[in-house]
Amino acid sequence: MRDPQAGIFQPDTTHHHLLEYRLTRGTTGDALREALRGLHAPLPFQAPEDGPWCVIAFGPEGLRTLGLKVPLSPFAALDGPRAAMPSTQRDVFVWVHGGSAGPVHDRARSLHAGLGGIATLELEERGFVYHDSRDLSGFVDGSGNPKGDEARAAALVADGPQAGGAYVLSQRWVHDLAAFEAVPVDEQERMIGRTKPDSVEFDGDRMPADAHVARTDVSEAKIFRRSMPIGGVAEHGLYFLAFGCDTERFDLLLRRMLGLSEDGITDRLFEFTQPRTGSLWFAPPAEELA
Ligand code: HEM
Repeated sequence: MRDPQAGIFQPDTTHHHLLEYRLTRGTTGDALREALRGLHAPLPFQAPEDGPWCVIAFGPEGLRTLGLKVPLSPFAALDGPRAAMPSTQRDVFVWVHGGSAGPVHDRARSLHAGLGGIATLELEERGFVYHDSRDLSGFVDGSGNPKGDEARAAALVADGPQAGGAYVLSQRWVHDLAAFEAVPVDEQERMIGRTKPDSVEFDGDRMPADAHVARTDVSEAKIFRRSMPIGGVAEHGLYFLAFGCDTERFDLLLRRMLGLSEDGITDRLFEFTQPRTGSLWFAPPAEELA
């Protein structure tokens, strides 16, 4: 397998910058390749030797523009009985992250210097680490993530011409924290399926079927999540970001959350948060991107 983009797995980074672009109609593959040179541009100040880390991925139109033959359809909006997920499919995705804000900002700017000339910036978010890797709801996010080889198996295409690449799902979720915080903590825990202070998963009998963990803990649909809190005091939420070796596993999990699977059960997460965007991407292996 070719090496994946290293930023997918780089752990413990604290500063994140997310950009989503829509390509200007008629952009050529050469123009897009040229615009991505900002990935290697020198930065204005000394950057840490091992960063910042960048992950670049493309929607179906971006892949077509580059002539990359990857089977990828646009994210299709989903409507469940009690909640919905919109599609805002865009063409180029950039995630820069590192251990300090300065170099992350500089690299995001160097990429925007090229991409801004051939595409419209439709989403920009800064992500941060909230306490010990908690979502803004106060629950630790990431505890159930696969680790080591299991993370690579979940996230990366194993065989064929795209081996080492990864499919990506991104969704910008906006929370209603006042609504969530009005719920007693033991009830919040039943909504998530884990304890709040120490993230202990409920065992079989105690796990409600509509808890978020019960909806998403599916052994044949493991994904590798790198979501992060976003926003300020007025509007805030989670930039959900996940990597998978195919897109079917995203679809299966989203349908289970929305009450569109056979059991018809809706995830209680929707009681306090809603997705406002949704895109699918493909992050080519490192060598192909270079
Ligand atoms: C605002 C949106 C979301 C929030 C706040 C959220 C939060 C959480 C939390 C607190 C956990 C338990 C700790 C952990 O294992 O990480 C969790 C688990 C998980 N979530 Fe989410 N999540 C969100 C959206 C999603 C979406 C859209 C998906 C699927 C596409 C998803 C898939 C998963 C998976 C696979 C697990 C691990 C289940 C397991 O194997 O134990 N989450 N999430």
